[in-house]
Amino acid sequence: MIQSRRTTTRAFQIAQRASKQSRNSQQRCFGNGRQARVAAVSRSSPKAKAAGFLVSATIGVGFLYSLGYPGTLHAETVPAPAEVTFEKARKKGTSREENRDLISSQHLQVKKSWESPGVYAWGSNSGKVVAPDSDEAFIKTPRRIPFFDGKLIRDIKLDRNFGAAIAENGDLLQWGTGFSTTSSGPEPTLTGKDLTKLSISRDRIIALSSNGNVYSISASKADQDAGPKTLESTWFPFWKSRSAVSYRDLKPGNLAWGEKVSDVSSGLEHCLILTSNGRLFSAASGTEDFPKKGQLGIPGLTWNTRPSGPYDQPHEISTLKGFDISKIATGDFHSLAADREGRVFAFGDNSLGQLGFDADSESPNIDAPSLLPIDKLYKGTNLRPKVTDVAAGGVNSFFTIDATRIAGQGEDDPRGLGRVTADTWASGQGIWGGLGNGRWTHVQGTPTKIKALSGLFEYDEVAHKVIPIRLARLSVGATHAAATMNNVVHLGASDYSSVNDTNWGADVLWWGNNEFYQLGTGKRNNVSNPTYIQPLDIEADREKGRREEHRFQITPRKKIRFEGRNVSVEQRIECGRGATAVYSGT
Ligand SMILES: *[C@@H]1O[C@H](CO)[C@@H](O)[C@H](O)[C@H]1NC(C)=O
Ligand SMILES: *[C@@H]1O[C@H](CO)[C@@H](O)[C@H](O)[C@H]1NC(C)=O
Ligand SMILES: *[C@@H]1O[C@H](CO)[C@@H](O)[C@H](O)[C@H]1NC(C)=O
Repeated sequence: MIQSRRTTTRAFQIAQRASKQSRNSQQRCFGNGRQARVAAVSRSSPKAKAAGFLVSATIGVGFLYSLGYPGTLHAETVPAPAEVTFEKARKKGTSREENRDLISSQHLQVKKSWESPGVYAWGSNSGKVVAPDSDEAFIKTPRRIPFFDGKLIRDIKLDRNFGAAIAENGDLLQWGTGFSTTSSGPEPTLTGKDLTKLSISRDRIIALSSNGNVYSISASKADQDAGPKTLESTWFPFWKSRSAVSYRDLKPGNLAWGEKVSDVSSGLEHCLILTSNGRLFSAASGTEDFPKKGQLGIPGLTWNTRPSGPYDQPHEISTLKGFDISKIATGDFHSLAADREGRVFAFGDNSLGQLGFDADSESPNIDAPSLLPIDKLYKGTNLRPKVTDVAAGGVNSFFTIDATRIAGQGEDDPRGLGRVTADTWASGQGIWGGLGNGRWTHVQGTPTKIKALSGLFEYDEVAHKVIPIRLARLSVGATHAAATMNNVVHLGASDYSSVNDTNWGADVLWWGNNEFYQLGTGKRNNVSNPTYIQPLDIEADREKGRREEHRFQITPRKKIRFEGRNVSVEQRIECGRGATAVYSGT
């Protein structure tokens, strides 16, 4: 969208003012200011508040660049600024709350998320997943799925042809034409298992329950009805009954006493299963093909060499024994695992560099977990990197890194020692903008820094210091992604605080392929620089008499009163295959 010069100038002024406000602290924290990527925003000025993180994220580079900042900036990396809008003269509200709604779109968004939770979805509707009751091929902007109105859920996953969610009571809900061509919306399938987390393969749902059981269920209703039914123990001792739907148990062998499965993540044909003791297992998770690109992390394991027993039995990745694995992620045909020390291992398909090192066109499949040379990314910087999280989807991988300033050789008393910079790196395919680095690269082995999500700081008024802005969550779909920032949020406005005290949530940035309108920009062009989208309820904004548009934010976790109960909820984003959802999660 084209941005008027006026708003640009104002954004720059605000950025400059905000920068001046926090200059003292910058100098304190950053010494000579050689680290150019700093655009701290004070929360004290309402305008700076309105601009908030926006200034630091997308104007940051342009702003610093325009001041002729030396150092790490390069002309080709200056991203196009996102849309920037500011508030104009307002009409007066009749109550304290109405005043707040008028002052701030952010406040209204937070409030709506608590008052009317539900699921918003958009993108491809070819399988009637994002809008079950519509024949439209695409849903171009966020729209509610009526079934979920007023409902909290635990998780949701979207394929173009099937959807799966966990209801607040732990039951599995399924819908879409891939589930059943006669389905008119979500219906319960696997019930009574207290499910907590979902992941999907090409044709199955991998579900984790609260007690650590892993279930593999067909995405298709016909298969569920026709397949063999598992014997289940019932509440009545020594009696077993057949389950209502066909499912398979993925049970890792020889777990220690008290050890249980704590996380699952599935690609198209394989899944990773992590235990509470940091042990990692892998298993086949689809029914069409046995994984054959090394993504199981077990050298030599193929359909022909597999041990006797179920084809989808979990295998322990023994080369990772002794590493305390804490984070896992899977793309279509590759796997990532990070340990508590901040090291990361990758295995599987590397044909597009998705493993984070350069691809060997002769043998693109890596079946042994390989340690990534993250240190190389920070060579010569006096920064020590630690991987804090991994994310993957399709043919892309993402790594978030905390880089700590250490003393370099011959530096007696360097300033800023111990300061942490939070960076986000990407590898894999970028031709649809999926790397988020502003380029349209075919193959990216060595991770590339996502500038818009790296080296961000803000001034925390409560703690009185400049802090790095990390990512709260990174959701990666088949070809697009969304980053939820862990910026300072405010959810404490109450009947007792000032009318000018408004709530605001966490910023979200989007990038990647947009051929199905899955980015929610309302347009179809692919996006290679993380960008903002409009609020979910743009209509509600308009009703409030605010003509100008604001950016979408989500509400972080908070205990609220809902239908007479105290519940802890947060909004989360789920990027799926060609589709996206925002939901209120418990
Ligand atoms: C709220 O902000 C407006 C405009 O900045 C100001 O005129 C008003 O005095 C403020 N009210 C309170 C209670 O702080
Ligand atoms: C976006 O990427 C898709 C590939 O998925 C491509 O077909 C389409 O032409 C691209 N759109 C634009 C506007 O470049
Ligand atoms: C909910 O929380 C409020 C305030 O924290 C407390 O007074 C109330 O007893 C709680 N209600 C229930 C049902 O737990």
